Amino acid sequence: MNAHPTPGDATTALASSRQRTLALTDCLDEDELLRQHSPLMSPLVWDLAHVGNQEEIWLVREAGRLPALRPDLDRLYDAFRHPRAARPALPLLPPDAARRYLRQVRERALEVLDAAVFDTEDGRSADGQDPLLARGFVFGMVAQHEQQHAETMLATHQLRSGPAVLDAPPPPPAGPDATALPREVLVPGGPFTMGTDTDPWALDNERPAHTVDLAPFWLDTVPVSNADYQEFIEDGGYADPRRWSPQGWAHRQRAGLEAPLFWQRDGRAWLRRRFGRTEPVPPSEPVLHVCWYEAEAYAHWAGRRLPTEAEWEKAARHDPATGRSRRHPWGDADPAPDHANLGQRHLQPAPVGSYPAGAAPSGARQLIGDVWEWTSSDFLPYPGFTAFPYPEYSEVFFGPDYKVLRGGSFGVDPVACRGTFRNWDHPIRRQIFSGFRTARDVTPGEAR
Ligand code: AVJ
Ligand code: FE
Repeated sequence: MNAHPTPGDATTALASSRQRTLALTDCLDEDELLRQHSPLMSPLVWDLAHVGNQEEIWLVREAGRLPALRPDLDRLYDAFRHPRAARPALPLLPPDAARRYLRQVRERALEVLDAAVFDTEDGRSADGQDPLLARGFVFGMVAQHEQQHAETMLATHQLRSGPAVLDAPPPPPAGPDATALPREVLVPGGPFTMGTDTDPWALDNERPAHTVDLAPFWLDTVPVSNADYQEFIEDGGYADPRRWSPQGWAHRQRAGLEAPLFWQRDGRAWLRRRFGRTEPVPPSEPVLHVCWYEAEAYAHWAGRRLPTEAEWEKAARHDPATGRSRRHPWGDADPAPDHANLGQRHLQPAPVGSYPAGAAPSGARQLIGDVWEWTSSDFLPYPGFTAFPYPEYSEVFFGPDYKVLRGGSFGVDPVACRGTFRNWDHPIRRQIFSGFRTARDVTPGEAR
């Protein structure tokens, strides 16, 4: 979001998140909405009412100070009380009741928004204003929450079996320069600003801004492609413990990993299942549905490593010409369709080398959109972190159990994606829209 969001921006963000939630659920019958398509995911009716319950808690009760509508639902839709695998057995609202609940909550939330003051006339937040309401933060937070669940619901669609119900045009082919790109780009050493104090809708874990000093490093210009990844497979990468960390190898053995999730062999070629359709694996697309251990093993096989989270953010945001960090690789402007593949416009990543208009000053492409990129880093708080407005968004996940992913996928909405945005998951997870790119240190002879 721009530095001074208006109530109109909040209205738009809430309306488009709702449109997406409904599009992802109206296309399935009652049985498909109530069923659990994978033990990793909630039944879609759970997501449906959960986004309404969060909106009730944060917009109706906390921001609006209006009476509760359905306080009895808080426990049912508390993600911490019931693990995903246990959710189908809960007395969930049936689809029609869930949709009605969403409408009732939204009606009240829009009344709260109507009465809200975002900024003073000089564009600063009003004196003494509740930080929850300043610059419309809580409206942005709730819209992002719903869009995050829309991406989760899209992952549930990918896991369901049966005929396709979703459709979208493919992304445009990569431009003529895509094959001529350098393999890697040099990100110069030195300090840069990581995180933000100013992005009005940035979440607690993106704050505060702080300086990080990095050695120079090389980063892949584009994400690792399916063709690249197939070389690792054909070279016996999955059978060779030397490529894997001890934990990675143990997981590979236990889970029987042999290829990215949703891939199957077809003689010497590979097919993949994508939202209910089976198709050849497109060689030039970024690899998708790999876990952190697979990314780590590939990087090691390639004689490289995963970038750290700080390296990723520096490559994406640092502008050497001004010394400041941008909101996005291309600058501070909100994402436009020629910058990045976001927002479920396409239901797959774009070929590597696409989106020249979205390139960072370093020359790296597709840092935003297409696939979430695994970094080598654990999910940890920045120095000076404070949980806001609730510790269960980020704080309870900090530690070595989660690895950071950056950049957003084709499935995430622009409102929930920016150069500072941090996603996280367990290193074994691959039902998410995850890929990666690799990095390496600058060797002494190469230093500039
Ligand atoms: C930021 C994607 C890890 O889905 O667990 C949704 C987002 N938090 N509801 C998740 C979230 C609360 C979160 N991730
Ligand atoms: Fe949630």
